[in-house]
Amino acid sequence: MRLDGKTVLVIGVGPGLGSATAYMLLKDGARVIMAARSEERLREIRKVLSKYGNVDYVVGDASGQSGARKIVEEARKKVGRIDHLALLAGNYVDSPIENLTEEQLDGMINANLKSPIYALNAAVKDLGQGSSVVMVSSVFGTYATSTGNVAYSSTKAGVAKAVEVLASELSGRGIRINAVAPRAMDHDFVPERDWRSKRKLGGKSCPPEDVASVVNWLMTDESEWVDGAVIPVDGGTRR
Ligand SMILES: NC(=O)c1ccc[n+]([C@@H]2O[C@H](COP(=O)([O-])OP(=O)(O)OC[C@H]3O[C@@H](n4cnc5c(N)ncnc54)[C@H](OP(=O)(O)O)[C@@H]3O)[C@@H](O)[C@H]2O)c1
Repeated sequence: MRLDGKTVLVIGVGPGLGSATAYMLLKDGARVIMAARSEERLREIRKVLSKYGNVDYVVGDASGQSGARKIVEEARKKVGRIDHLALLAGNYVDSPIENLTEEQLDGMINANLKSPIYALNAAVKDLGQGSSVVMVSSVFGTYATSTGNVAYSSTKAGVAKAVEVLASELSGRGIRINAVAPRAMDHDFVPERDWRSKRKLGGKSCPPEDVASVVNWLMTDESEWVDGAVIPVDGGTRR
């Protein structure tokens, strides 16, 4: 398997992309440590995924520097080493400009921009030659525009820029950083299902497995010449 012997910390594990990513990494041989704020949900997800490999979790909020450090420290205590990072925590809010609130804009900055940056800040000393970091942007932060969501789209544009800057900053240490840019994903991950039958090329939304499989590939050596890229995973709909 492509990720035998590797440990991946996945931050932002819920019922969608996070669980699908953890599942695919486990099936590819990785040891997975998941993180999010809801212990109850993480416990459930661990129960479902344990039959596929070595999976555990830590509870925490990655949107502040001390919270992100705590997640990484706890993860380190549990697994000893961290080879790769999947930084998936994020959220969405509709925010037409005339109704935009401080809470909405701060919430998007915290969830979408601060979480991945603070998580990498906390974990970068664990990483080295061959490590891969994956963040999540959105086609609406990069390749396409939609209206009524300036708080969301501008933070996802920030993630795309962060990937570019950080890839340049860390390439000398052999650490790759990329992002996926989905359009709309469902939140209904179930292991072993026929997920390909649930979407059609050109359709506007996809099951989370479509995006998780690209995140998984970015963790493997097969993508080792891909760095500083924001990869649209949108069935071509950005056009
Ligand atoms: N779904 C879409 O249509 C879509 C499209 C483009 C991009 N994305 C992006 O893809 C990523 C995953 O989305 P998803 O649809 O799978 O969303 P999701 O089901 O809501 O999963 C994101 C998970 O991140 C966790 N999280 C949020 N803030 C956190 C924080 N501060 N610290 C730690 N964990 C945190 C949440 O769990 P807790 O509440 O337990 O912490 C949540 O379950 C997000 O970055 C999202 O913005 C989604």
